[in-house]
Amino acid sequence: MEISCIVNGEKKQFKIEPDETLLNILRREGYLGVKRGCEEGNCGVCTVLMNGRPVNSCVVFGAKADGAEIITVEGLGTPENLNTLQEAFLDEGAVQCGFCTPGFLLSATALLKENPEPSREEVIEALDSNYCRCTGYVKPINAVLAAARKMRGEE
Ligand code: FES
Ligand code: FES
Repeated sequence: MEISCIVNGEKKQFKIEPDETLLNILRREGYLGVKRGCEEGNCGVCTVLMNGRPVNSCVVFGAKADGAEIITVEGLGTPENLNTLQEAFLDEGAVQCGFCTPGFLLSATALLKENPEPSREEVIEALDSNYCRCTGYVKPINAVLAAARKMRGEE
């Protein structure tokens, strides 16, 4: 079957198998920032935004993405031009191996769009589906709070 969707602002058409996951499709199509982890909906490394909401792409059938707007980490900043959130992750030392980072960035992107002034507890809640094996959670949480302050013009 074929699906049409918008990925990172570009119209795309993908030929897919009916039982294929969105994770498989995106990685096959070159969006390698979408990481493959548990493939059971538990670790959050495969997080993308689907119509503005974070989803674990390993448990979403690709067919569900027909007509949807998808954002992957490739749709945030670029290595030459990081966005505020990405810069904050670097500044706060919130990235070690980086495997979990795309998922964190996308969950945080959705949070800050909806709530530009989140409390620490709200950040913790927004990131609670994203696992990190290296850095832990304090630095990513601090990074999201720092990015939020910067985006509000407070730093
Ligand atoms: S790979 Fe999707 S949640 Fe772990
Ligand atoms: S930085 Fe390595 S898993 Fe999070």
